[in-house]
Amino acid sequence: MKRIGILTSGGDSPGMNAAIRSVVRCAIDRGMEVYGIHRGYEGLLDGEITRMDRNSVGDILHRGGTILKTARSQRFQTDEGVSRAAEMLGTFGIEGLVVIGGDGSLHGGLELSRKGISVMGLPGTIDNDLGYTDYTIGFDTAVSTVLEAISKLRDTSSAHDRTTVVEVMGRHCGDIALYAGLAGGAEAVLLPEVNQDVNEICRHIIEGRNRGKLHSIIIKAEGADISSQQLAETIEQKTGKETKVAVLSYLQRGGSPTLQDRNLATLTAAKAVELLWDDAESKAIGICRGEIVAYDLAEALTVKREFDQEMYDLISVLSK
Ligand code: F6P
Repeated sequence: MKRIGILTSGGDSPGMNAAIRSVVRCAIDRGMEVYGIHRGYEGLLDGEITRMDRNSVGDILHRGGTILKTARSQRFQTDEGVSRAAEMLGTFGIEGLVVIGGDGSLHGGLELSRKGISVMGLPGTIDNDLGYTDYTIGFDTAVSTVLEAISKLRDTSSAHDRTTVVEVMGRHCGDIALYAGLAGGAEAVLLPEVNQDVNEICRHIIEGRNRGKLHSIIIKAEGADISSQQLAETIEQKTGKETKVAVLSYLQRGGSPTLQDRNLATLTAAKAVELLWDDAESKAIGICRGEIVAYDLAEALTVKREFDQEMYDLISVLSK
């Protein structure tokens, strides 16, 4: 395979630029031509495609966001849209495509692969919600951002003897809340995967106060079954303790990628180029137990993410 394309799609995540850089430079090293597709599938439909060279990916390794821009494309999510996108790739002579994005983006890649394009999917999302890989590109940076925020919030919560509800991203997967909860010493985490009893959380806060705790940090994933405001009001009313909400929102998606995200992005991207060079069938690339892995794209996307109950239970053991 000589000519490949690359796009980033869906919510951006720190490390996407590291992946773009690795794809471009590894492919050029093998004598392949690389085309950057701007604004994800949306830009593909509009033919926003330009040739990339080694210099075009200089000075981006450490930057968050994506130099190719990203989008969530409604137009692509129809049979007509997918056919038009495949046609556009044909017009540019692009035989293989690297897609960096989350579940929806990789499903888009799967649709294109059914039109005869060889697609390599890289897991680019802060959510860590893809079952076939242990980690996604951007997750580690997002959790680090949350941890930094928690330690600042803890200072002010202690000073005022308050409870703070920290809302983090994650509509269907609570991994950001779970990992930040464990590493940040939260009193409780609320996740989309678990039905939490708010009374139990309140009891926990009161017991902590009786033991002399000055603050309580509760981390709530955006997809948990209660709103942050409602949760804070209930806690305040039941514990008699002032409770504030801090929504971290898009802060979690920006910033310079951590070591783990840079290397995950760089290594999975290099693997994608190697597979395209070998004319391999479409794959989803990720990391399992420290090894870079590549699975059949369709099969990988059926793997359900397993919820880590032990980690969840440990959070409440440690905060007692
Ligand atoms: O999928 C990544 C993610 O950051 C989610 O955690 C969040 O719910 C969503 O994207 C927000 O998406 P948008 O950029 O469309 O507001």
